Amino acid sequence: MFTFAHLSDPHLELPPVRPLELLSKRATGYASWRWRRRHIHAGEALAASVRDLKAIAPRHVVVTGDLANISTRAEFAQARDWLHELGDPADVSLVPGNHDAYVRTGWGDTLGLWAPFMAGDGASMPTSREGFPYVRRRGPVAFVGLNTALARLPLFATGTLGASQIERFEAVMRGLADEDVCRVVLIHHPPQEGGATRHKWLTDSAAFRAAIGRVGADLILHGHNHRLQLGSIGSPVGPVPVVGVASTSAHPASKYGAGGYHLVSVRRDGAAWRFGVDVRRLREDLSGCDVGQTLNLLGPGA
Ligand SMILES: [Fe+2]
Repeated sequence: MFTFAHLSDPHLELPPVRPLELLSKRATGYASWRWRRRHIHAGEALAASVRDLKAIAPRHVVVTGDLANISTRAEFAQARDWLHELGDPADVSLVPGNHDAYVRTGWGDTLGLWAPFMAGDGASMPTSREGFPYVRRRGPVAFVGLNTALARLPLFATGTLGASQIERFEAVMRGLADEDVCRVVLIHHPPQEGGATRHKWLTDSAAFRAAIGRVGADLILHGHNHRLQLGSIGSPVGPVPVVGVASTSAHPASKYGAGGYHLVSVRRDGAAWRFGVDVRRLREDLSGCDVGQTLNLLGPGA
């Protein structure tokens, strides 16, 4: 049995912002952080989730985006340090979210700072969106990381994969299908039908679902909506389970309720893979997490 943790949308506390940085879409995001979001995504809640996770010491950790809030340089540097504290880049796999591409920025001093956590096995560090998807094999799992993060107009939190990334994804998945490996797809935006409202959906989710319909997958993990979400996408050998996780920094008193993370165990079950998902929710006093529920999911091919 192989166990890994899935966490998402930590939205680290916003470091001081320079006035010049607010002359953009960041102004609305900054206001939203000051008035609303900083009361939801509490530093002490995030620290409690990470303490709980580290005590369990899963074999691998996946993070499905939104470490930042308004994509300032200080946020990328802060999140890089947080990622290194979470684990070695070989043990932590990351995909970016819409808040990590809040405005148009260069790569080097933004997402480039997180590149060691998004580099495929034996591949060079990604230097742009062309570096996705990446593939990382850990135990029986091949983690396939996608990038949906693209700068958008104010009040839009949509994501897009793009035709070329979907094409590369399909080729990668087809190659992995010939191996005895569990293909776990990491994506920030929920890709299933009705996975998100129109102003925050994955704009080319239909094309992504069509690709899954051709090449399949064993499990798809996402974040973005800050709540536990269950769905499925059809594949040639049956429905692929899709699981969304709550924000790992959501304070128990916030409108989302207690955040936390998922502990996912993977094992063979005949021709399919079986997944046990412990939904670990923060306690009111932030002294750790408890298992709110356990999901028992069977991948396609059974
Ligand atoms: Fe998001």
